[in-house]
Amino acid sequence: MRLPYFLKKSLQISEKLFRPYIGRFFLLAGVGFLTGFADSVGISLLIPLFAFFVGSSEAVPSTFATDFVQGLFSRFHIDLTFQLLLIIVVSVFIFKTAFLAFFGSLRIKATVAYYRDVQKKIFKETLSADYRYLSGEKAGRLVSLLTTDAKQSVRLLDNLIGLVFIFTSVAAYLAVAFSLSASITLVTLAVGFAVLLLFRPAVRLIRSYTRELIALRHELFQFLNESILGLKTIKAMSVEEALIKKSSEWLQRTEKIEMKRQYVKFFSKTALEPITIFYILAVFSISYFYLDFNIVSFIAIVYIIQKIFSNVEKLQSAIHLMNTELLHAVAVTDLLSQIALNKKEQTGSRPFALKEGLEFRNVGFSYASGRGFVKDVSFKIKKGDYVGIVGRSGSGKTTIVDLLLRLLVPDSGAILADGIDVKDLDLNSWRQNVVYVPQDAFLFNDTVLANISFYDGAVGRAEVSEAARSAHILEVINKLPKGFDTPIGERGTALSGGERQRVALARALARKPAILVLDEATSAVDVHSEQLIQETIKHLRGKTTVIVIAHRLSSVLDADKIITIDGGRVIEEGRPADLAKIPGSYLAQAIAAGARGASLWLPTE
Ligand SMILES: Nc1ncnc2c1ncn2[C@@H]1O[C@H](COP(=O)(O)OP(=O)(O)OP(=O)(O)O)[C@@H](O)[C@H]1O
Ligand SMILES: [Mg+2]
Repeated sequence: MRLPYFLKKSLQISEKLFRPYIGRFFLLAGVGFLTGFADSVGISLLIPLFAFFVGSSEAVPSTFATDFVQGLFSRFHIDLTFQLLLIIVVSVFIFKTAFLAFFGSLRIKATVAYYRDVQKKIFKETLSADYRYLSGEKAGRLVSLLTTDAKQSVRLLDNLIGLVFIFTSVAAYLAVAFSLSASITLVTLAVGFAVLLLFRPAVRLIRSYTRELIALRHELFQFLNESILGLKTIKAMSVEEALIKKSSEWLQRTEKIEMKRQYVKFFSKTALEPITIFYILAVFSISYFYLDFNIVSFIAIVYIIQKIFSNVEKLQSAIHLMNTELLHAVAVTDLLSQIALNKKEQTGSRPFALKEGLEFRNVGFSYASGRGFVKDVSFKIKKGDYVGIVGRSGSGKTTIVDLLLRLLVPDSGAILADGIDVKDLDLNSWRQNVVYVPQDAFLFNDTVLANISFYDGAVGRAEVSEAARSAHILEVINKLPKGFDTPIGERGTALSGGERQRVALARALARKPAILVLDEATSAVDVHSEQLIQETIKHLRGKTTVIVIAHRLSSVLDADKIITIDGGRVIEEGRPADLAKIPGSYLAQAIAAGARGASLWLPTE
């Protein structure tokens, strides 16, 4: 027989997610069995106890528990009195409770430890994944994975542990039930199994609703996340109403499916109770009319049957829950395996060194989507030079820089440092020496100091202060309420776009990079500050290799070299003065436009 979907999938998922907890599963199984065993032994010992009560001992059917106790006592020639038996029964139930408590604490420990581990793992693996893969991922999806899906996978573990308990204690009940009456137990098993089969369509239905819900929830998360990030644009363009409408449509769709799902769950759960009662009444009638009827053993067997059925019910609701949780857990394992596939950050072993210069040699690259590419890009940059990369929007400048940062890996050709392919150099030491400032300065919700030292232990207060001076942001910082210790982003201490860019620049300078890459990093800085920053960068000449992507003509006219990119290819390369002399060159056009007073900017279209 084909294993039901959930069992098969649970096994696959458990193998991937819960493998470190396998030892605990065995322990839990053992304790679960002992709990059920103690419970049913206690119950079957109630039979002779009741027999004492009604004053007859001949009619008491024997079970292995009663036989065992009776055997033990006759061996030591002790009379089995009512009091003694009572003490034994009470002790057995105390044991059962102790086992139950032990099981509970094991369960809590396992799930809490797993929750901590899985969140840590998702975060760690996500951060260590290849940038090309991550840049295609949606932030909202990652956040919902870290929160909702991780949490649901904890519930899955919890329910699996519950299943262990159900199966082991049912096994123990069955053992005792068999020794009471094999025929009734067999019939009970068959009926229990039939009930499970009866509810299979409901389980399937719930699974398909759940799948829809998860997809919708991921979409909604994405949408909410983007709405919050884009709050300013949304409010400024007064489109709140439209967005609220869109979100409520989403919620309505979710509500409809959730409602159906809950109905199916509720009805299948409710249907089980009358089934149990009818069954017990049937057993009662059959034993009354056809079997050797004994009220005491009947009570014991009803108790055990009821226990078995209530476990079947628990099993059923656990399966319902697990269907939901499984799909969330699948989202977690899918992410982790996708990351594993995309974790090919290549690192070499040679330490970073740059004595002569960099070279792009016939570098080709295209994004997974097929859109955006650089083709056959070749250029050289001497150590200590100040180089401008210019070109229209979408021409591939950022892509070239990302390749240099080794966030992307060339599909063909190579990037060389002193003639050595950079992929042979240690990635960490490369990134410590090649420092990047993006256009959209990224600042953490932390102090100015933390944002400049940026988790680099080698960068102390003195370096931070010096870097802030070089980035011409020191005065601004000194005017903040707590100086360098002012949290960025708190009320009244928000920084302007240009100030944020200068903090990001200070962060880069504080690392004293060998290669400094600025991707339109001063686009929001005022002309005066930009001139001051230019001066700073000029001072770096000779020591630091500076690569600047700029749209502003003034940023690159002083460069040692300008590389012009168009359609992913290098179309011009040379000293600004030389390029300016070539009629019709990109730079000549830009200068002409500037001279006519049309623009200080390089042409973009
Ligand atoms: N993560 C990505 N996935 C797919 N395509 C991308 C990705 N990033 C960029 N592209 C595409 O690659 C091309 C080059 O983009 P790139 O960012 O290198 O341009 P750019 O020259 O830096 O432009 P800009 O001056 O506007 O910053 C574009 O057509 C862009 O659509
Ligand atoms: Mg760009």
